[in-house]
Amino acid sequence: MKLDNVMVEVKGGTAVVTVNRPDKLNALNRATLEDLSRAMGEAAADPAVRTVILTGAGEKAFVAGADIGEIAGLDAQSGREFALFGQGVFRAIELFPKPVIAAVNGFALGGGCELAMACHMRIASENAQFGQPEVNLGIMPGYGGTQRLPRLVGKGRALELLLSGDRVDAKRACEMGLVNAVVPQAELLATALGMAARMGAKAPLAVRHCIEAVNTGSEMPVEEGCYLEASLFGLCCTSEDMREGTRAFIEKRKPEFKGC
Ligand code: COA
Repeated sequence: MKLDNVMVEVKGGTAVVTVNRPDKLNALNRATLEDLSRAMGEAAADPAVRTVILTGAGEKAFVAGADIGEIAGLDAQSGREFALFGQGVFRAIELFPKPVIAAVNGFALGGGCELAMACHMRIASENAQFGQPEVNLGIMPGYGGTQRLPRLVGKGRALELLLSGDRVDAKRACEMGLVNAVVPQAELLATALGMAARMGAKAPLAVRHCIEAVNTGSEMPVEEGCYLEASLFGLCCTSEDMREGTRAFIEKRKPEFKGC
């Protein structure tokens, strides 16, 4: 697949999806969001892809935000549509049926921070910086930032970032729970690939149902979430991979999962 603003390279079972507008610090214009959506759709449909890593081209930025040039011309109607479109692309990433790891290699600001938060996990390089600077532009986050940030770091810390527009470095982001781990930039992709490979070796249906249970269940009262969990657990028990996984344990060998 040839896309203008996003590169996709499959390494082993991992699709490395790279937002590729380095001269604009990988800012997300409409065309880039469309390319990202297409790339993720292909990765979801490809059975050879078990995991996805999302990153930005170059060494300076993951994604420096939505494209401010495009924002400048919005009115009430087009602004709403702009936000809904980006939210849709990000929601599909959050609900993606395979693990999605953000490898945050630099600035993750505005829509970039929101994109990282829509991924299932985040690994940051030491030079990464996170923030929601929209208030500096007279706007607010529109791609889910006001919703995902408090869920990740708590309401008080989220409001501090949202209302000040301040940036935090990778170490602070890790302390806040915004990222899972911080590594030197030279080790970022290898670390993300290692994490992806470990998850990619697990039973794909079980992994998929874990993502579903966390995404859907965390918005429910705990009893309903547990009920959902029990149903998904039951579904796992109908899979060939469940027979294989439990049999392999008993036979003291490595399981060979097929994803069915
Ligand atoms: N939208 C559109 N273009 C962007 C952009 C964005 N969000 N972020 C960076 N760019 C462009 C710059 O306009 C510049 O383009 P140019 O060379 O054609 O002038 C290029 O990317 C490099 O950015 P520059 O500002 O020169 O780099 P810097 O190292 O001095 O500063 C940042 C880096 C990230 C601090 C700065 O670019 C910035 O503040 N960007 C906007 C962040 C933001 O507000 N994001 C939320 C948007 S809703």
